[in-house]
Amino acid sequence: MTAAHKGVSASYADQLVMRIFSGIQPTGRKHLGNYIGAITQYVAGQDRGDPAIYCIVDLHAISVPYDPAELRERVLDTTAILVAAGLDPDRCVLFRQSDVPEHSELQWLLSSVTELGRLNRMHQFRDKSVAQRELVSAALLMYPVLQAADVLAYRAHEVPVGEDQREHLELMRDVAVRFNARFGEEVLVVPEHRIPEVGARVRDLQEPDRKMSTTGGSVQGTVLVLDEPKTIEKKFKRAVTDSEDPPTIRRGPDKAGITNLIEILATVRGVTPDAIEQDFADARYGDFKVAVGTEVAEWLAPVRERYDELRGDEAALEAMLAAGAEKARAMAAPTVADVRRVMGFGGS
Ligand code: TYM
Repeated sequence: MTAAHKGVSASYADQLVMRIFSGIQPTGRKHLGNYIGAITQYVAGQDRGDPAIYCIVDLHAISVPYDPAELRERVLDTTAILVAAGLDPDRCVLFRQSDVPEHSELQWLLSSVTELGRLNRMHQFRDKSVAQRELVSAALLMYPVLQAADVLAYRAHEVPVGEDQREHLELMRDVAVRFNARFGEEVLVVPEHRIPEVGARVRDLQEPDRKMSTTGGSVQGTVLVLDEPKTIEKKFKRAVTDSEDPPTIRRGPDKAGITNLIEILATVRGVTPDAIEQDFADARYGDFKVAVGTEVAEWLAPVRERYDELRGDEAALEAMLAAGAEKARAMAAPTVADVRRVMGFGGS
C-alpha cells in the first residue's frame, strides 16, 4: 500500500506538464513594479503553463487592517486590471482565493510542519509588524504559510514573482520538502521561483534606494497602471537621478535612479539594458526621462482603456471568477485529499 502510493506520488514531480501558479493582492493601485515584475510574466506564462493559474489573494489581504465593503471592490479592480493586461480566462485559470476553501484548510495542515521561529524572522513580518500601528494579527505571521498553501495545493512547478517574494518562495519549498519527508511520500511538488532578470525590483522614482510599492513608497515615485498618461509623464520627468559629471546613462551600483529607468525602458521596448545605454549614449538626463515617461505612458494606455470597459460590468467579472474557482477547486481538492490521507485523517 505504502510502496504503491509512493510510486504514484513520485510521478507528480516527474510530470512533463509545466504548472504555473502565482498570486497577487487585491488592490486597484497596482503599480509599474507589479506590472513589470509579475503581470507581464503572467501573460507570457499562459502559453507555457499547463495550466497557468493566477489567484487574487483576498485572504492574505485581511492580515492587515482593511475595510470589508472595499475588499470585494478591490478584487474586481484587480481582476479587471489582469484581464486588461492580457490574461484570458479561457487560456488560464483566474480566480479569487476565498472561493476555494482548500487554501485555508491546507494552510492549517502545513502549519504543523512550519517552524515558528522562521515565521518570526521573515522580513515582511518584521517590517509590517513594526510599521503597524493597529493590531498586529496572527494572520500577518501566518501569511507565508497561506502563500505556501496557495502554490502547493496545485502542485505547481513554477512561480513567477518579483525579487521581494524570494524569501516566501524559499519558505514554501522548505515546507514542501519537510512535509514529504515527515509523511514519507512525495505528495507535494517543490516549486521553483521564476524571477525576471530585468525588472525584478522596480524602484521608487523619488527614492530609488527603495522598491516601488503602494504601501511603503512615495506617491510621486510610484507609477500606477491606471494613472493618466499625463500623470505618468510628469512622474518620470521628476524622477531622481544622480549628480555624475558628465551625466552618463549607464547602469551602476551608485546610479540606482538611472539604472532603474534603463531597466524600465528595456522592458517596455523588449530589448536589453545594454541596447538602451547605447541608444541614449549622448542623451541628457532630462531628455532620457521624457523618453521613458512617454513610452511607459503609451505602453500602459491600452491597459487603462480596456480596464475602464471591463470594470463597468461587475456581473461579467464575477462570472469569470466563479468559473475560474470551479476549475481551481477541481485541481486543489485532490492534493488536499492526499495531504489529509497521509496525515492520518479519515473521510477522504
Ligand atoms: P503583491 O500583490 O504585493 O505583488 C504582486 C507581484 O508583484 C511583484 N512586485 C514587484 N516586482 C518588481 N518590482 C517591484 N517594485 C514589485 N513590487 C511587487 C511581487 O514580487 C509579486 O510577484 N505575497 C504576494 C502574493 C501571493 C503570492 C502567492 C505570490 C500570495 N500567494 C503565491 C506568489 C505565489 C504579494 O503580496 O504580492
